[in-house]
Amino acid sequence: MGLRVIFLGPPGAGKGTQAGRLGGHLRVPKISTGDMLRDAIAAGTALGRVAGPLMEKGGLVPDELLNGIIDERLSQPDCAKGYILDGFPRTLKQAEGFEHMKRGDATTDMYVLNVEVPRDELLRRLSGRRWCPHCQSTYHIYNNPPKDDSLCDKDRTLLIQREDDKETAVARRLAEYDDRTAPLIEYYRGRSRFHTVNGYRPPDTVFAELKGLFVKAPA
Ligand code: AP5
Repeated sequence: MGLRVIFLGPPGAGKGTQAGRLGGHLRVPKISTGDMLRDAIAAGTALGRVAGPLMEKGGLVPDELLNGIIDERLSQPDCAKGYILDGFPRTLKQAEGFEHMKRGDATTDMYVLNVEVPRDELLRRLSGRRWCPHCQSTYHIYNNPPKDDSLCDKDRTLLIQREDDKETAVARRLAEYDDRTAPLIEYYRGRSRFHTVNGYRPPDTVFAELKGLFVKAPA
C-alpha cells in the first residue's frame, strides 16, 4: 500500500493549494471532493443536482453520497500507489465510513496534515479567491494574481468568484467546519501520523515543511 495522506483544515487554509503541490511532488493523485462535486454540478449529473444547492449556501453534502464517490474513486488503478485526500473525510460519519472502505490500509500508517490559519486571514483569502471554472485552478487577487487580469494563466478562461466564497456562504462553511469537521482533529490525533502545520506563512514555506515530512530516513 502506497503513501496515503489526509488534509484537514478550515475553508481557505490552503489545503487544495498544498495538496496539489504535494501530489505532484510525491507522484500520487490529489483527490478533492470539492472539485469532484463541482465537476458533477457542471456536468448536470444526479449527484450535481443534489450537491449544487447545498454547496451554494455553504452546507455539507450528505455523508452517504460522499462515502460512495470516494469508495469508487479509491478503487481506480491510479490510487494503488497512494493518494492525497483534500476535503474528505469531513465529518465523523465519513471518517468511520472511510475505515470500512479501506482495503487493508491501516489508519496508523496514514499521514494526517492539519493546516491551521487564523480566522481573519481565512476570510481575507476566501473573499479574494478567484477560480477557473474550466481547469479549477485557483488564484487570489492579491496573493496570487493571474498574469493577465482576470484570465486563467493555463487556459485563458475568464476567472470567477465561487458562489460559496460570498459572505453568507462563507459564514455557514466556517460554522460547519467548527461543528462537524474540527472534531476530526482529536479523532485522528491518536490514530495516525498526525502533524499540525502553521498555514499562515507563504505557500513555499508551508510546502517546504510538508515536503520535509516525506524525506526518507537514510537506511
Ligand atoms: P471544498 O472545495 O473542499 O472547499 P473548502 O474545504 O471550503 O476549502 P477551500 O477550497 O475553500 O479552501 P482550501 O483550504 O482548499 O484553500 P485553497 O488552497 O483553495 O468544498 C466546497 C464545498 O463542497 C463544501 O462547502 C461542501 O458543500 C462540499 N463538500 C466537499 N467535500 C465534502 C465532504 N467531504 N462532505 C460534505 N460536503 C463536501 O486557498 C484559498 C485561497 O487562499 C486561494 O485564493 C489561495 O490562492 C490562497 N492561499 C493558499 N495558500 C496560501 C498561503 N499560504 N498564503 C496566502 N494565500 C494562500
